[in-house]
Amino acid sequence: MISRVLTYSDKINLPPNVLKLFGSNIIMSDLKSNKVSKLYEDIKRAKISLQGKKYDILRKNAVEDSEQFWEQQAKNLVWFKYWDRTLTWDPPFAKWFAGGSLNASVNCIDRHMDSQFKNKAAIIWQGENEETRTITYYQLFKHVNIFANALKSLGVKKGDRVIIYLPMVPEVVIAMLACARIGATHIVVFSGFSAKALADRANDSESKVIITADGGYRRGKIIELKKIVDESTLSIPSLEKVIVLKRASNDIKMTNMDVWWHEIVQNEQQYCKPEILASTHPLFILYTSGTTGKPKGVLHSTGGYLTHLYATTKLVFDFRSTDIFFCTADVGWITGHSYVVYGPLMHGITEIMYEGTPDYPTTDRYWAVVEKHGATILYTTPTALRMYIKFGDNTPKSFDLSSLRLLGTVGEPINPDVWQWYFETIGKGNCPIVDTWWQTETGGIMLSTCTGIDDTIPMKPGSASFPVPGVDMAIVDEHGEVVDANKKGYLMVKKPWPGMLMTLWRNDNAYQDLYWNKFKGMYYTGDYALMDEDGYFWLLGRSDDVLKVAGHRLSSMELESTFVSHKAVAEAAVTGRLDQKKGESIIAFLVLRSDYPPTEELRKVLTDHVRKTIGPIAVPEGIYFVSKLPKTRSGKIMRRLLKSIANREDSIGDLTTLEDNTSVDEVKHVFNQLKNEIVE
Ligand code: PRX
Repeated sequence: MISRVLTYSDKINLPPNVLKLFGSNIIMSDLKSNKVSKLYEDIKRAKISLQGKKYDILRKNAVEDSEQFWEQQAKNLVWFKYWDRTLTWDPPFAKWFAGGSLNASVNCIDRHMDSQFKNKAAIIWQGENEETRTITYYQLFKHVNIFANALKSLGVKKGDRVIIYLPMVPEVVIAMLACARIGATHIVVFSGFSAKALADRANDSESKVIITADGGYRRGKIIELKKIVDESTLSIPSLEKVIVLKRASNDIKMTNMDVWWHEIVQNEQQYCKPEILASTHPLFILYTSGTTGKPKGVLHSTGGYLTHLYATTKLVFDFRSTDIFFCTADVGWITGHSYVVYGPLMHGITEIMYEGTPDYPTTDRYWAVVEKHGATILYTTPTALRMYIKFGDNTPKSFDLSSLRLLGTVGEPINPDVWQWYFETIGKGNCPIVDTWWQTETGGIMLSTCTGIDDTIPMKPGSASFPVPGVDMAIVDEHGEVVDANKKGYLMVKKPWPGMLMTLWRNDNAYQDLYWNKFKGMYYTGDYALMDEDGYFWLLGRSDDVLKVAGHRLSSMELESTFVSHKAVAEAAVTGRLDQKKGESIIAFLVLRSDYPPTEELRKVLTDHVRKTIGPIAVPEGIYFVSKLPKTRSGKIMRRLLKSIANREDSIGDLTTLEDNTSVDEVKHVFNQLKNEIVE
């Protein structure tokens, strides 16, 4: 039986005028309590006075002459040689600052060696088990130089690809900057990914070296990273060396290919001359899920990417030399690359790097870390906040959080009630909140309130507010026409921006197809959005088959191919269910091969298969065994219908835009049939 259990906080993160647009589809019974309307009134009053008064003119000029704006921003970096042209735009390929040369590691560390930041803490590292380490800029400089020399001694050269598969320890930053120093392109693979995911990424990028650790800690247990690497190396022909950091001291097997980190750095020189690299030199590849079955290698440049980060960290967070920045992201994701490593270090900020999860060993970790190290800015995810709300207010209230001056969120929409809790319980009503929208592909923040420049802007909880200066965005309809205020459409970027991906690794065609062919001349984000009458952007979820589970991006197609790779499964379709905790959870509809009965045991086996193939983040919340998948006449899976069923809706709602001319009656019939078939 399927019952209607969607609640207020599941779906509603919109003001009432926006809600009206969606008709009865989105109005939940909880609305009777008038909760949304009341909340919105509160919000309208919640004006926060921010510093500075320049925003109107700055944003306007920055969009009208974005090249000039970005050129000014680029001058904040350290260049060996200035560029000949700010932007060379040969759609869809952009070259930012062509002719210019620089090095990312110089911009993060060397630049501070002659400044007052030299002996300042760059990283305050907090281990899961109360262990802490502080590394100054000078010490970081030394470590990076020595490790860069060690990489060179192993034969790593400019242009080579290096996989970094490490836990959240300072060495992950050292490894990234060392690669950047010698011009090797790094590919950080999240340490929660499986051997197969690791091997796929190493093979696609033809990486020469993997940097890993014997083990990493997670929730008190040791994750045996080296063992996972051993499993994967069997199938990576390009691999020459594996560098192993001693972290957990668990038993491992060292092979001929393996070297210890502490041994290879022993006799290296203290200084490594940085490579002089073109602005367009590929700094890193980061694999992310898309609408295909295979992760895509998003390729980022050096000069453009760093310019975008230098500018957005200043504009959005208004970095000050006294700030202690706590970004809770793992370095395995883009937020970790941009706002744990490159952005803060370029500014000479002290940052907190936290190894553990928010709730282990106790349910107070973030608050304990903020208090212990005096964090001034906290940048985290709505998923983490939702988890903390569940633990109650007494925990955060028992900590001194008065050091905080600014709060931020990223990765998924934040519900207004979660926003309100963050604002009041954590920020005590004194800290503005920046809701930052961006993607792996955009490199840095694209939509956000900018505390560095905005003055008395009312913050609207649930809205990522406006494009940052220099970024031009629009919401368009099916024909690529800009829609009126309060109308839902596709979120597009109208002009190239410096943090944009250069292409997909060795796949220019897919780059063009996926991002630039939907509407010519504009970048397709894959998100739905609308702009309200005050010009605020509201994100309305993905318009493609990408899922966002606890803020992590997963592809329905990749999950489907994983299910089908198991011998019991004939066909698979995966969709998302709104989830109070994770934002979205994974629901799979599976057609089994005839000799496999649908048992509870098989459900467990298939769940385990996904865990092993992709990693724990991809574990499904529900698996439904069905006799056939609902398809249109031309054979396309009716995804909207599956989504409605996964969300336990009574009916499929608006049928006017159903794919492929399938008749409304036919769809209703399939919907009812499938609904009755499902046993939860
Ligand atoms: O759907 C949007 C959502 O996350 C997607 C990008 O995911 P990823 O590349 O993993 O990068 C996440 C961290 C930058 C977007 O297409 N998203 C990101 N930030 C927000 C968001 N949705 C709503 N509000 C946000 N602030």
